[in-house]
Parts: sequence; C-alpha cells; structure tokens
Amino acid sequence: MSKIATLEVNGQKHEFPILVGSENESAINIKTLRSVTGGVTTIDPGYKNTGSCESSITFLDGEKGILRYRGYSIEDLAEKADFLEVAYLLIFGELPTQEQLDKFHSDIREKSIVDDDVKKILDAFPKTAHPMGVLSSLTSALTAFNPSSVNVDSEEDMYNSVVKILGKFPVLVAWTMRKKHGLPLDYGDNSLGYVENVLKMMFKKPNEEYVQNQILVDALDKLLILHADHEQNCSTSTVRIVGSSHAGLFASLSAGISALWGPLHGGANQAVLEMLEAIKEDGGDTKKYMAKAKDKSDPFRLMGFGHRVYKNFDPRAKIIKKSADEVLGDLGIEDPILDIAKGLEKEALEDQYFVDRKLYPNVDFYSGIIYRAMGIPTDMFTVMFALGRLPGWIAQWREMRLRKEPIGRPRQLYIGETYRPFMTIKKR
Ligand code: CMC
Repeated sequence: MSKIATLEVNGQKHEFPILVGSENESAINIKTLRSVTGGVTTIDPGYKNTGSCESSITFLDGEKGILRYRGYSIEDLAEKADFLEVAYLLIFGELPTQEQLDKFHSDIREKSIVDDDVKKILDAFPKTAHPMGVLSSLTSALTAFNPSSVNVDSEEDMYNSVVKILGKFPVLVAWTMRKKHGLPLDYGDNSLGYVENVLKMMFKKPNEEYVQNQILVDALDKLLILHADHEQNCSTSTVRIVGSSHAGLFASLSAGISALWGPLHGGANQAVLEMLEAIKEDGGDTKKYMAKAKDKSDPFRLMGFGHRVYKNFDPRAKIIKKSADEVLGDLGIEDPILDIAKGLEKEALEDQYFVDRKLYPNVDFYSGIIYRAMGIPTDMFTVMFALGRLPGWIAQWREMRLRKEPIGRPRQLYIGETYRPFMTIKKR
C-alpha cells in the first residue's frame, strides 16, 4: 500500500504521496504543493532536506558510511576495478565486458585530439592563473571547437560526446599544469592505459624518456575511482541544473568545474594541504588549530573535516588513509605533514565539539598527501578531483537528459521592499 504524508496549511489538510527508493529511503512528493495550497512553497537553505531528482547512479548512506556506484560497493570497485571500467559503469549502468571496455578505450583514444588552436586560448592566461579557472575556461572553449549540439535522443550521438570529453579532458588537465610550469604542450601516447597516459602527459619532460611508476599509476587510479561520483553534491547539481536548460554537455561540465573549485567542496583538498603546511610552519601545534576551529568568532575551519551527508565516517577517507600510508611507504617518503594529519585526526575524533557535530575526516583529508607524494603541485589537486569526477558528472547529465527532466528553477520567499512609487533622481 502506498504511503501518504498529510500536511495542514491554513487549516486545510493536503495529502502527498511518499515515494520509496530501492534502498527503502522515503521522499515526500510535493510536486502539487503550490497548486493545492494556492502558492505556498518550501524553504530549505542549502537543500539539506530536498531531493532534486530520482537517480539510479549512486547510493550513499551517510549514517552507515555506505557508498555504491550502480549497486557496487566503493570498497570493491577501488580494490578490483580500474577507472575506465568505473567510468563505463557509472555512465552506462553496467560493468563493461572486455570487448566493450576495449572499444570504449579505443574510441576515447580516437577522440583525444584537442584542436591545436585551443593552445592560443591557453597562451592568453597568465602563468599565475589558478588551474581550476583555466580548466573551466578550456572546457567551455571546447563548445566552440565542437559546436554541433548533442542529439540526446540518439544513442550514438550521446556515446560520441561521452568518449569525446573523456578523451580530451585529460589533455586539458595536462596542458593546464604544463603551461604553468613552462613545459611544451604535448599530446598523449595512445599505446598507454588511460591513467598511465594522464601521468605521462602531465610529467614528461621534453629531454627525457618518461618511465612509468606502477605505484603512482595504481594510486592515481584508486583516487580517481574514489572521486568518480557522489550523487547530488554541489558540482553535480550544478551540472544537472545547467544541463536542464538544454545547455550542452561541455558547457554544463565547465559550470560543474567552477562549482567544484570552492574550498567547501573540491577545493578542500588544496586547502587541507595548505592548512597542514601552515601548522607545520607554525611549529606543529595542532591543539592551537583545534581551538581555532572550535572558536565561533574565528572563521577557520578544520579543512578535510565534516561532510553534509556522512555523519559517521566517509568510506572513501578510510580507503585513502590506508592508501596514503602504502604509497608513502612504497615510495620511501617520510612526510612530516602525514604525521601532523594523523595527530590532528586523532585529536578531532576524541574532541567533544567534533563528536557532537559528527565531524569526521572526509575524502580530501588525506588525498592531498598522496598527490603531493606523486609530485602533483598543490594548486592542481582540485583539477585531479575534477578528472576523477568527470564520469560522474557525465553520467548525471546523461541521466537527467534521458529522463527528460524539467528545467531546474527553484522558488524563493521574497523578503525585500513591497511596492514603492518611483522617485525621480532629484528627489532621492
Ligand atoms: N571545522 C570546524 N567546524 C565545523 C567544520 C569544520 N571542518 N565543519 C562543520 N563544522 C561545524 C559548523 O561550524 C557547525 O557548527 P554549529 O552547529 O555549532 O554552528 C556544524 O559543524 C555543522 O556544520 P555546517 O556547516 O552546518 O554543515 P554543512 O553540512 O553545511 O557543511 C561542509 C558541510 C563539508 C561544508 C563542512 O563540514 C565544512 O566546511 N568542512 C570543511 C571543508 C571540507 O573539508 N570540504 C570537503 C567536503 S568532502 C569533498 C566533497 O565532496 O566536496
């Protein structure tokens, strides 16, 4: 029997159906709220209680610390799959067969050439530009070089645009970093795996052969998988809402990159490392920074702590912490920053302020330590997050268009001036 929620507004009772998801989550469907109540709306700042869509891509349970892509646990995927398999799974709904995966990879390789004129756009940026701003601009510029809009009703068209962006995006990522470091802009090596190619494109020096390090390949592959999707977060919701106006895939992704940039979202990985370095420079007094984080008159927050949805632990953080230990051990790196991070985590987990607010380390608390060990510059960390999140954004954009969702257009409660007669400039 279907469940019903009853709401009384101005003395009148209204009934709304309760939808139940495949994991028994409930959502009150208030689609008819405004029409049955004569224009009453809801207010939910930050959408803390609002579901924006029905989705079959990612399930997460913040209380139990569960994260699954298309039903598969993040632990299994991080351990047993590679990034391209996960990208295929997220976008098309099933793990690929070997044949499907080979074709997918070969199509991505084929589409990986970025128009050489894009280099002119990149040239116009100062070397001091933040890589996220550059990446967002270059992704947006792809619309100009690939002007035909995607016919979302054509499976072939949709597939082509998916492999196109998966092919070109790593080139833009690498160019963004190389430009900043004065290295020549290169194309990848189509004989390599997706992640190996990313590393070579980023780090190859013009006068040296690039030798792959399997530890780095595996570590990056895992990090990309862990970041690949996270249901309706800020950047993903941005991609969906921009796409809901029927703006193209590249334009929607460019907006998503901008949303990811902020320190409360993807930018946290850069902010965490900067915070850990500042603590180290300041003598390593973690207690001082714990006190700052708890002081309501101080805007400082313990970066890499807390999550809108996870209120117990972030399963990605668990995997990453283990991986940080392994990678640093395998590479023979002793990083005092890792010790500061561990000390800070221990103190926070025992501190009443953090316990009361259910603040735990999130995915980005340890990811920057691994990126740093890999030789990735700090201001590229969020770009690496974007590279990982790309399949998730694509999958969510595709789902939104295939489900023919309406344009996203929230309501508001107006609290400004009521009607005022216009006053001529002399009378003001
Ligand atoms: N340090 C100190 N206090 C915190 C922190 C923190 N990192 N995070 C939350 N709080 C406090 C906050 O001040 C508030 O306290 P009170 O109830 O006394 O006013 C309470 O905890 C609830 O915080 P909130 O800001 O209402 O929670 P939210 O769900 O709106 O914010 C968050 C979630 C992730 C933006 C926030 O925890 C935060 O700013 N964390 C630091 C930035 C960060 O690490 N972001 C990466 C998120 S994971 C990567 C991703 O997917 O984007």
